[in-house]
Amino acid sequence: MLNGNGNGDVLVLAVESSCDETAAAVVKNGREVLSNIISSQIALHTLYGGVVPEIASRKHIEKISQVIEEALLEASVTLDDIDVIGVTYGPGLVGALLVGVAEAKAIAYAANKPLVGVHHIEGHIAANFIEHRELEPPFFSLVVSGGHTHLVRVKDYGKFDIIGRTRDDAAGEAFDKVARAIGLGYPGGPKIDQAAKKGNPEAIIFPRAHMADSPYDFSFSGVKSAVLNYLNGCRMKGEEYCQADVAASFQRAVTDVLVENAMGAAEEFHVDKFALAGGVASNSALRAAMKTACEKRGIKLYYPSPVYCTDNAAMIGAAAYYEYRDGTRHGWDLNAVPNLKLGER
Ligand code: KG4
Ligand code: ZN
Repeated sequence: MLNGNGNGDVLVLAVESSCDETAAAVVKNGREVLSNIISSQIALHTLYGGVVPEIASRKHIEKISQVIEEALLEASVTLDDIDVIGVTYGPGLVGALLVGVAEAKAIAYAANKPLVGVHHIEGHIAANFIEHRELEPPFFSLVVSGGHTHLVRVKDYGKFDIIGRTRDDAAGEAFDKVARAIGLGYPGGPKIDQAAKKGNPEAIIFPRAHMADSPYDFSFSGVKSAVLNYLNGCRMKGEEYCQADVAASFQRAVTDVLVENAMGAAEEFHVDKFALAGGVASNSALRAAMKTACEKRGIKLYYPSPVYCTDNAAMIGAAAYYEYRDGTRHGWDLNAVPNLKLGER
């Protein structure tokens, strides 16, 4: 029996604080979300056009206990009912991660519960388990967030091979930077998604980078610079540019490369299940393009609802359950690891 309450169910209290969301959730058996509380700092960081690490850490400290209490309350459980404490311990902003890790350790120690540290990307991938009960490894995943762009072969729960990764900017980072340049503000991804709906994705041809030596790697700094150059060119000529066309054309350039690389890997590795993950997985153009590409090849496509795409603790609870089931336990020396590698324990 995995749990301490005798009924066979495993309840994870999960904590996530790696960037600008303070989040806690209660998840049953890795798949059923009993509560999912997210305190977003977006409004605060909008003032500065991006996440300010020191401010993020301070805000996490203010919010974390309250968010955990709310998660327990909404799930109608007490700490006694909880079997495992799961927490993101990397990658992310070190000061932000430390708040969640310290809190989770304190709770686990005081309540005498096992502690399971979770890799943030493993959490993003596990977000797909919440609403797709039938999804089980092996499958492929494209993890596209503000900090990461990874093409991952999920061999089993908690077992990964990274097939491709970005050489420079993450996809979400490129969205955020371009959004700022065309005056849409932070966070840019959802705003570009919206603006692009009114634009022509073929109005401007922005570059699509392909790595000759590594076909599944990505690079988004070129397309970002091309957008900045285009805007500068317009300014120098005294011409107005069409915000919606720039947004749509940029979005098309990014999604084309994401889909091409994902499908290239899918064909080489004979993939029959593909899961999108991370904040950019809620992008409507990416979802539509992946849907068409997967349908053409007979691949079943999965993606989480937007609330489970961007940072949340339910996904950490899902990943923590499978890590716990696999025997992962962390000690009181668990530390924040800002550049933690996927698959490391
Ligand atoms: O996964 P996430 O919440 O944080 C990280 O782990 O980085 O992802 C946040 C990123 C931001 O860059 C945001 O602009 C992007 O996801 N994003 C989107 C959309 N919604 C969020 N990008 C494109 N289209 C969207 N609809
Ligand atoms: Zn994330």
